[in-house]
Amino acid sequence: MTDGVIPLLDLRQIGRTPPVPHPLPPPRPGPWLDARGRPLRDLRISVTDRCNFRCSYCMPKEVFDKDYAFLPHRDLLSFEEITRLAGVFAGLGVQKLRLTGGEPLLRRNLEALIAQLAGLRTPEGQPLDLTLTTNGSLLARKAQALREAGLRRVTVSLDALDDAIFRRMNDVDFPVAEVLRGIEAAQAAGLAPIKVNMVVKRGTNDDQILPMARHFRGTGVVLRFIEYMDVGMSNGWRMDEVLPSAQVLARLREDAELVPLAPTVEGETATRWGYADGSGEIGLISSVTQAFCGDCNRARLSTEGRLYTCLFAGDGHDLRALLRGDGDHPPRSDAEIAAALGALWTRRNDRYSELRASLPAAESGPARRVEMHYIGG
Ligand code: GTP
Ligand code: 5AD
Ligand code: SF4
Ligand code: SF4
Repeated sequence: MTDGVIPLLDLRQIGRTPPVPHPLPPPRPGPWLDARGRPLRDLRISVTDRCNFRCSYCMPKEVFDKDYAFLPHRDLLSFEEITRLAGVFAGLGVQKLRLTGGEPLLRRNLEALIAQLAGLRTPEGQPLDLTLTTNGSLLARKAQALREAGLRRVTVSLDALDDAIFRRMNDVDFPVAEVLRGIEAAQAAGLAPIKVNMVVKRGTNDDQILPMARHFRGTGVVLRFIEYMDVGMSNGWRMDEVLPSAQVLARLREDAELVPLAPTVEGETATRWGYADGSGEIGLISSVTQAFCGDCNRARLSTEGRLYTCLFAGDGHDLRALLRGDGDHPPRSDAEIAAALGALWTRRNDRYSELRASLPAAESGPARRVEMHYIGG
């Protein structure tokens, strides 16, 4: 076992007798620091494990076919449960909430959840940065209602401008024009700043780098190029399909002058570059060639209430059992859940991407890795 993997805590033992084997951290508000000195700032909440796309790097059709068993409705956290947990996280120092999926806009009445989350505050009384990652397919229809419910901004996944390439990549023949309409609707609704995430696969869509950059330059939309990652177990990832960000940047710089920009917040995933003429910025997310685990402040909550402290974790911690109680234990109070989360975070030692870069693939992580459609991006 590498130190990228920590044993799971039995959360049910925390805050209850008999006493836990590990001392509870003292009761105080955040920020909690993990075993590598990283605070907890960003909670990413998956609201459904379903998606209407079948991107081969995330939900390949062969695996996610009509027989695939998605989570049954009774296993999902309710909106009230999600909001309660998010409130506890906010008390521990979380400042950003990102709703993900699968495709989050497939969750019925998502606006109601957004309205609840928009009411949360940090201990200092500030609202949280509330955002959402979507494939954009339903955005044209929903942008205005999302904004009215209290969503602040949105990130759209879009891998190509060329319609044929886009249809091939989403693998359900979905037209790119509809996603572009969704982005326009989000702009019109004031969901700013809008970010567009493009996963770059060498040989599949790398010829779309320049068309995408030219399309979004000067529009206020921040385009970010993501290195194709070995997330999950089903996408058949190969290193030779990764186009290193350095090469993406080199291609962009043949077309336009770019200057480095400072990070906006600590622990940012993207390295930012600005057009020298002030016509916008782009981002490079380089988790394969330049791991950013060093200041990773992200926790991920699955649709059924399991908490993952790394995108590449093998297993999560069951928070739903704390909320609902189980055979042995009654439901826990907010203070008990906060103590459990604090204990969990202080033991966190994950740094999968760093280890992957330094170790042979077989040694760099758990044998089982959570799937992206289940835990979100
Ligand atoms: P902003 O607050 O808008 O900057 O969002 P973000 O970059 O924190 O989140 P987003 O979901 O847009 O992340 C973009 C992509 O980066 C994801 O789709 C993943 O591919 C990748 N990514 C995000 N977080 C992590 C992480 O913690 N580890 C790794 N390895 N990749 C990540
Ligand atoms: N590598 C990089 N990014 C991925 N995403 C999904 N799978 C991968 C992968 N294998 C990204 C998508 C989307 C977000 C939900 O996660 O582009 O932006
Ligand atoms: Fe594609 Fe996102 Fe759906 Fe995965 S969750 S299949 S990346 S649209
Ligand atoms: Fe964070 Fe894990 Fe991603 Fe590293 S690999 S940045 S620890 S989520």
